[in-house]
Amino acid sequence: MKFQDLQNPLRIRQLSQNQSDIDLIQKLFDAAPKYFQAIQRNPASTTEAEEALSVLPPNTSLEQKFNLGLFLNSELIGYADIINGYPDDSFAYLGLLIFSEQLQRSGFGKSAFALIEQLISSWTTVKTIRLGVADANDVTGFWKKMGFTPTGRILPCHQQQIKAQIIEMEKPVRRAGQKGLTC
Ligand SMILES: CC(C)(COP(=O)(O)OP(=O)(O)OC[C@H]1O[C@@H](n2cnc3c(N)ncnc32)[C@H](O)[C@@H]1OP(=O)(O)O)[C@@H](O)C(=O)NCCC(=O)NCCS
Repeated sequence: MKFQDLQNPLRIRQLSQNQSDIDLIQKLFDAAPKYFQAIQRNPASTTEAEEALSVLPPNTSLEQKFNLGLFLNSELIGYADIINGYPDDSFAYLGLLIFSEQLQRSGFGKSAFALIEQLISSWTTVKTIRLGVADANDVTGFWKKMGFTPTGRILPCHQQQIKAQIIEMEKPVRRAGQKGLTC
């Protein structure tokens, strides 16, 4: 899989469930403690990376899951988890985008999302990118800047006995040559 943009400082590579990729992601998760503290009220567990690589939404398979490493000068600084075809073929579901804490708010999220959008636009059945933001970690401002809008649906999430609200957001997929609506 090659989605490279020479103007983009990041390179993207699909990660696998081998020990060296698990170790890379675990190191990244350990370097982003505030996110895990907000979401699960605990730091990343020692098996967090292994679980992230294999966790799936209902009725999906590992073939639909893209574990993407985001590299800056060969160093993994970010990770994205995307499902092609959830909840149905017309959606890509962005499960997580995360950067090490010291590199957050440096423009890498924006660069990463440009590459992710490029990848998703090659998935011909996908018309919409969907994601959910936990209210305990309100990053809706970032996603609004990336062109997402809230759908208005607020979904309950029961994770490890923590009750959270999930703010659902979506963005239509724009493909090359597709003109914007004019009125
Ligand atoms: C959320 C995250 C991926 C954003 O990536 P980032 O590299 O920090 O964001 P960028 O620096 O590229 O920011 C792009 C724009 O979004 C804004 N932005 C970034 N984080 C924001 C936030 N939490 N709230 C509001 N705006 C935000 C920036 O100010 C910037 O605006 P600008 O273009 O007007 O300057 C990153 O902060 C992160 O890893 N957070 C922890 C994990 C997490 O919460 N992931 C999302 C789960 S849904």
